[in-house]
Amino acid sequence: MQLLPLSLCLLTLTGSTFSDGNVPEIIRATEGDNATLTCYINKNIESERFEWKKDGKKDVYLYEGGLLPGQDEQFRGRVSHFDHELKNGDASITISDTKVSDSGVYTCDLPNLHQTFTVRLVVDPVIVRVKEGRDASLPCKINKDIWIEQFYWMKDRKKDVYLYYEGLVLRQDEQFRGRVSYFNHLLRNGNASISISDTKLSDSGFYTCDLTNLHQTFTVRLLVVGELKDRSCELQGRAAKVSTLRPEQTEDKVLLECKVSDVFSRI
Ligand SMILES: *[C@@H]1O[C@H](CO)[C@@H](O)[C@H](O)[C@H]1NC(C)=O
Ligand SMILES: *[C@@H]1O[C@H](CO)[C@@H](O)[C@H](O)[C@H]1NC(C)=O
Repeated sequence: MQLLPLSLCLLTLTGSTFSDGNVPEIIRATEGDNATLTCYINKNIESERFEWKKDGKKDVYLYEGGLLPGQDEQFRGRVSHFDHELKNGDASITISDTKVSDSGVYTCDLPNLHQTFTVRLVVDPVIVRVKEGRDASLPCKINKDIWIEQFYWMKDRKKDVYLYYEGLVLRQDEQFRGRVSYFNHLLRNGNASISISDTKLSDSGFYTCDLTNLHQTFTVRLLVVGELKDRSCELQGRAAKVSTLRPEQTEDKVLLECKVSDVFSRI
C-alpha cells in the first residue's frame, strides 16, 4: 500500500474519524440504516476511476464517469456516490438499507493514482426483546409483492423456523411447531414478518429471513427475558426474594435486586 502525505480516508456515521490507511476504521450501523463509507484524496477525481470492493473480492461499486458493469448482486440498486463532490476528491459511497451480511472490510481503490483506503463496516441486527411467554414479532420487509415468493426463516443458521412457499410450511423444527404464524394479508406489501407465540428462553438467538430469489437476507436478534420476579435468591446467607426486574439495563442480562427486609443488594 502506497500513501501520500496529503491523502486520507475519512468515514462518517456518528462523527468524523481519520484513518492512517493501515488500521481500518470501524463504522457501525443497525440493519436498515444507510452507511456512508468515505474516501478522500486531495485531487479532482471527476475523470478518475475508483473501485470499491468488499473483502477483497466482491465488486461493490466500480466508477469511471458512471457506474461500470460487474457490480455484485448483493449491492444492486443500493450504492450511490456523491457526484458533485468528485471535483473535491471525494470518492465516498453510501450503502442504503444495510444488511448484517454487508459487514466486512471495504477497500476504496484509485488505481491510476496508486491509492487504496480501507474501512470496516459492522452492521448489527435489529433487536427484539420480549418477556418469556409473550409473543414475539420478528420483522422482515421489502418494497415488493412477495405473494408468490419463497421466504425462509432460520434460527442461528441451523434450525428451520418457517419455510414458506405458496402458503405451505415446508420445513419446521420441533421447537417451533404450532407456534409460528406469518401475515398472509401482508405478503402483497412485502411483509414477511412472523410471530412466535408463547416464547421460551431457548428461543433467544439470531434469526434470518431469507428471500432467496430476491437475494435478500434480514437478521433479527431475539432476546427472551425470563420472568424472575418470584424467584428466590440468597443474601448474606439468608433466603430472600428477587424484588426488581430491569430487563432494559443491558442487552442480554437482567439486573436483579435481592431484598431482605430493608437490606438491598444487587446480584
Ligand atoms: C437511505 O437512502 C435511500 C436511498 O438513497 C433513501 O431513500 C432513504 O431515505 C435513506 N434512509 C435514511 C434512513 O436516511
Ligand atoms: C409487518 O407486519 C407486522 C405484523 O402485522 C407489523 O407488526 C409490522 O409493523 C409490519 N412491518 C412493516 C415494516 O410494515
